[in-house]
Amino acid sequence: MKATIAVLPGDGIGPEVIAEGLRCLRVLAERHGHQLTLTELPFGGAAIDLTGNPLPDETLHACRAADAVLLGAIGGPKWSAPTAKVRPEQGLLALRSALGVYANLRPVKVHPALLGASTLKPEVLEGVDLMFVRELTGGIYFGEKRRDALSATDVCTYTVQEIERIVRSAARLAQKRRSKLVSIDKSNVLETSRLWREVTTRVMRAQFPDVSLEHMLVDSAAMHLIRRPRDFDVLVTENMFGDILTDEASMLAGSLGLLPSASLGEGTRGLYEPIHGSAPDIAGKGIANPCGTILSAALLLRHSLGLEGEAAALERAVSAVLEQGARTPDIAAQGTRALSTREFGEAVLAKL
Ligand code: IPM
Ligand code: MG
Repeated sequence: MKATIAVLPGDGIGPEVIAEGLRCLRVLAERHGHQLTLTELPFGGAAIDLTGNPLPDETLHACRAADAVLLGAIGGPKWSAPTAKVRPEQGLLALRSALGVYANLRPVKVHPALLGASTLKPEVLEGVDLMFVRELTGGIYFGEKRRDALSATDVCTYTVQEIERIVRSAARLAQKRRSKLVSIDKSNVLETSRLWREVTTRVMRAQFPDVSLEHMLVDSAAMHLIRRPRDFDVLVTENMFGDILTDEASMLAGSLGLLPSASLGEGTRGLYEPIHGSAPDIAGKGIANPCGTILSAALLLRHSLGLEGEAAALERAVSAVLEQGARTPDIAAQGTRALSTREFGEAVLAKL
C-alpha cells in the first residue's frame, strides 16, 4: 500500500523518541512492501523558533493532506514564561481541532514483566487492561480565556452533539472489549457534567443496551483507578479530566513513557502521539523511553492504514523486548544497567 505520514518531532525528547518510531515504520514498510512517505515538519517550540508560529501553515497543510500524523512532544521552559504570547501548546490544540480528532484513545495495559516497575503493588496491577476515551477538542481547553489585573477566566462548554459522538466512540470500543463503560464527570458541581451525564445515559440506553454503563465522579474515579484498576474496561470522559486521569493511569503501567495514544475523528485519518510531554529535564540525553511513540506508530498502522498484522507485529516486538528485560532508566530496577533510547529501539528492530 501507499501512504503519506506527516511526522512532527517537536521539542525536548520528541525528536529522540520519534527517531525510533520512524525506524520501526521504515523496517515494517520495507518488509511488507508498503510505500510510506514520511515527511518531517516543524511544530511546537521548534516551529516558534523558526517561524514565530507553533503550527506553521505548511505543517498544517501537510497534516491535512496526510493519511496520518505521528507526533513526538512539544513544549519546554524556553517557551513557557507566564507572559509568553505564543506557546507550543497552542499549536497542539490548534492541530487537534483542525484535524477534528475528537476521540483520544489511551490504552493502558500492564505488561507482566513490568509488574515490579510500578510504585503500586503487583497484585493490584495484574491483568489490568483498560481504555481511556478522552474527549479532545472541547471543554475548558477550548473555551474563551480572559485575563485582567485581578482575575482570570477559562470557560468550559460542551454541546450535546460533542458529548453524543464521544460517547458513541467509547461505546463502540466497549462492544469490542468487555462491554463495560464508565463515564466520568463532576455532575455534583458542574453544569457541563450534568449535561454529560444526561446525554450519556440517553445515548447508551437508546443505542447500546448491550453495554453496561456506570457513572462515576472524577474524584472517586481517581481513587478507584488505583484501588481496583482491574475492574475498568472503557472509561469515557471530558478533555481535562482525561488529561489528568491518564497521567495517573500511566503509573499502573509503570511509566508515563510507556503509553501511546490515537486521536481519531470521523474518517480514518488520525493523530498519534505518546501521552508524555517533552521532558526537558532529560532531553538530549538519549535516555527517554521510546515505547509510547513506537506503540503509537503501531496504533497508526492499525487505525489509519488498516495494517492490523503489521501493528500487532510491532506490539509483539515491544512486548518481547520488555519480556527479555530491556529497560530504559524510567523502568529499570535500581542498580541495573539501563538501555539508551537508541539501544531500546535497536532491540525492538532486532525482534521485528
Ligand atoms: C497531553 C498533554 C497535552 C494536553 C499538553 C501538552 C497540552 O498533556 O496530551 O496529555 O494537555 O492535552
Ligand atoms: Mg497530559
